[in-house]
Amino acid sequence: MDHFNYKNGSLHAEDVALSDIAAEVGTPFYVYSTATLERHFRLFDDALSGMDHLVCYAMKAASNQSIIKTLAALGAGMDVVSGGEYLRAIRAGVPPDRIVFSGVGKTRAEMEMIVQGGVRQVNVESEPEMVLLDKVARAHGKKIPITIRMNPDVDAKTHAKIATGKSENKFGIPITKARDVYAMAAKLEGLEIVGIDVHIGSQLTDLEPFGLAYRKVAELTQTLRADGHDIRRLDLGGGLGIPYVRGNEAPPLPADYGALIKREVGHLGCEVEIEPGRLIVGNAGLLVSSVIYVKEGEGRNFLILDAAMNDLIRPAMYDAHHDIVPVQEPKAGADYADFDVVGPVCETGDTFARNRALQRLEDGDLVAFRSAGAYGAVMASEYNSRPLIPEVLVKGDQFAVIRPRPTLEEMINRDTIPSWL
Ligand code: LLP
Repeated sequence: MDHFNYKNGSLHAEDVALSDIAAEVGTPFYVYSTATLERHFRLFDDALSGMDHLVCYAMKAASNQSIIKTLAALGAGMDVVSGGEYLRAIRAGVPPDRIVFSGVGKTRAEMEMIVQGGVRQVNVESEPEMVLLDKVARAHGKKIPITIRMNPDVDAKTHAKIATGKSENKFGIPITKARDVYAMAAKLEGLEIVGIDVHIGSQLTDLEPFGLAYRKVAELTQTLRADGHDIRRLDLGGGLGIPYVRGNEAPPLPADYGALIKREVGHLGCEVEIEPGRLIVGNAGLLVSSVIYVKEGEGRNFLILDAAMNDLIRPAMYDAHHDIVPVQEPKAGADYADFDVVGPVCETGDTFARNRALQRLEDGDLVAFRSAGAYGAVMASEYNSRPLIPEVLVKGDQFAVIRPRPTLEEMINRDTIPSWL
């Protein structure tokens, strides 16, 4: 459920008409609903109630500081994967002991940053990373809490580009090597083993792969405890999917996911962390765009928008589906036709949808892409010298620009010209 609904024939974010935002901010823009963000965070938090737990929002899904602050105010932790995300979390006021640092290629500079600034735990993904982190920690006289990310070799049954839990994927350490790697970590004085980490992929629409992975983690917990390690925290990753096609998809609910976690690992007495990104912010954000032209092709109609693949890459990159709806509510009996919905970028990959049935629209009409809050704004680029588009946050009847649109001058003035030119 989200808070984007038609009121008086016009699509609103909570109590704000999207057309009012468009009039002030221009299109295209991203808009997020505070109530939806809060609702989705609470679904996870409630799903784990009765367990010692922390829901660490995976900031990679949408990392604007206003989104982080909104969630942090509810008690969220953060899962960060770069020095940049770490700094965003810190600037947004998240206490370091609620920040988990993940990622397969942490650099020394990033390690220095989190060792000095403080962190809840580092999720270590390889032996060389472990050795370097130990060195950096000792150089600063610190002992850094770690989990080690296990690759459980489980098929997440999701898009190949976002599956992470099979042995052929670059993530984590093979679970078969766990005992050796934990034994090695235990000898490193700059590190303190606190638990186990696992993450098998994103946009999972079936709970079974989670069950398989968590069962392996539970078994491993017992084994490692028997080896003398103090396994007291389990980071179970993110990945629960969302419905992208409205009314047609029903992925498992956070409550069912929480029940599964309790069933699989509840008996171990560990503190549990989860790292959801998409489910918290995905359906809490829309991309709003204007129709530039309606073009009749040979046997095809093109709806050419002012948003493009550089603003929302998911359809081009993963063949992802996003529902596209007009901001003015279609009237009963409206005339529908099939459109290819495209952007202005000079490649055919800049296609959001093919043969999509839409009411007839005209130049200047507004459309909204649903489910665009996660991996939308954060994956945008300036391809074709198109400036990054603004982000807007709505709360009740208020809205605020939380990242302004740069001017063309600001964008091109970042180039520097060498003296010989
Ligand atoms: N934790 C780790 C270690 C991750 O790698 C990810 C996502 C998450 C948590 C959050 O997963 P979520 O709950 O959001 O599914 N750009 C792609 C998605 C990439 C996901 C990468 N890792 C997309 O647009 O579908």
